[in-house]
Amino acid sequence: MTERCHGDTRPPAGPRARTAIVLAAAALLAATSAAFLPTTASAGTTLGASAAEKGRYFGTAVAASRLSDNAYTTILNREFNMVTAENEMKMNATEPQQGRFSYGAAEQIVNHARSRGMSVRGHTLAWHSQQPGWMESMSGSALRQAMLNHVTQVATHFRGQVVAWDVVNEAFADGSSGGRRDSNLQRTGNDWIEAAFRAADAADPNAKLCYNDYNTDNWTHAKTQGVYNMVRDFKARGVPIDCVGFQSHFNNNSPYVSNYRTTLSSFAALGVDVQITELDIQGAPANTYRSVVEDCMAVPRCNGITVWGIRDSDSWLASQTPLLFNSNGSKKAAYDAVLAALNNGPAVPTTAPPTSVPPTTAPPTTAPPTTAPPTTPPPGGGCSATLQDSTRWGDRFNSQVTVSGASNWSVVVAVTPPQKVSATWNGSPSWDGSGNVMTMRSNGSGNVFGFTTMANGNWTRPQVLSCTAS
Ligand code: G3I
Repeated sequence: MTERCHGDTRPPAGPRARTAIVLAAAALLAATSAAFLPTTASAGTTLGASAAEKGRYFGTAVAASRLSDNAYTTILNREFNMVTAENEMKMNATEPQQGRFSYGAAEQIVNHARSRGMSVRGHTLAWHSQQPGWMESMSGSALRQAMLNHVTQVATHFRGQVVAWDVVNEAFADGSSGGRRDSNLQRTGNDWIEAAFRAADAADPNAKLCYNDYNTDNWTHAKTQGVYNMVRDFKARGVPIDCVGFQSHFNNNSPYVSNYRTTLSSFAALGVDVQITELDIQGAPANTYRSVVEDCMAVPRCNGITVWGIRDSDSWLASQTPLLFNSNGSKKAAYDAVLAALNNGPAVPTTAPPTSVPPTTAPPTTAPPTTAPPTTPPPGGGCSATLQDSTRWGDRFNSQVTVSGASNWSVVVAVTPPQKVSATWNGSPSWDGSGNVMTMRSNGSGNVFGFTTMANGNWTRPQVLSCTAS
């Protein structure tokens, strides 16, 4: 098996690319950190910011066709720090004819996300559904080979741009069997799933590799147990699996259940990250959304939540009005409940849970940042900025910058190599060529912005270099 690599050791495509990769590394590796400190007093004001402050991500499914809709992208860019292509990375989209790959729509989404500091979950490399016509009619070893080639080609194409892949989607049967779903892929042999994971691992050793399914939320269901047993077996045999995605499409026939937290924590105890990957809830009851987020926050290895669309009108189930924004883009009560649950929840506790995955960052080699007096920046053109330390984990720390004297501001902050900024909130960041100097511009979110720095062994506190009013 290719050794799973948990840091970004490849040459980055650019400072923002590096940021996107490391953001996910921060969120996805949170559980391997070491020491628990109180959370920051400041509450985030957007879903992504609030999740990032707690060492997690908050994402959404995005349709390429909607990226030209201003109201849509305004919410997307403001609220989310993880993106999943709703349909554009599926097999029928990326290999419409055998051996001829088509990445245009997927790249539109990837570029939109990464150029704005959001990370990307890949969905999905192998699935019985949404196969291209040529694949639907294949079987046996030809199909197995075609599937593996697809996994290899697509994962290689997006190598370094996708932080986690749903390698295999929906391979288990509904009902009481607890077994595999019948499909052309399943008929190539029961080992098709692990073969897909090994191919993805070889193609992109740095991406987190997930198994993703629906109706696996209720711990007592046979399907949940079937997936659990597969993951336990994969971990025991060294099949390269890093995470399990719970789609969590909740509706009246498949409602949220109170043992959901048990499900998440039981899978996490196998040594995988767990992620809520396609959340929507019929009618969007605020209390249920709150419970789902609280359940994730209670599980250290639940490192991210993705809702399956932005506004109700964007949903595959629009008539169920299952999302956080109504069709005119207004926040619903469920939004407020989710934001509050993120802000009230614990930061990722940093005592590593028992796992076979080794920690990826060395312990601090220099003194960690303390709550020293705020940095006083050099005088700028009409504003000043002060930096304060906030949450610290075993591998990274958050800083908060308060700006006074201007509402339209631009603050330049430097981190010390090999430190890297891995997440930001409440501002629009850009980086110089080195990736060590960040210019944060106001984006209407107020006068306090924050960022996460991956220490990479150096705990020097970032410096505010200037504040300029514009
Ligand atoms: O783009 C075509 C359009 O040109 C055509 O006129 C129209 C006519 O039907 O179809 C359009 O494509 C549709 C596509 O969504 C884009 O809107 C497909 O028919 C439709 O089948 C497809 O549905 C997607 C569904 O997966 C397919 O299985 C949904 O958008 C998407 O939200 C949904 O996502 C899945 C996850 O991948 C896996 N988990 C379940 C989840 C919900 O079903």
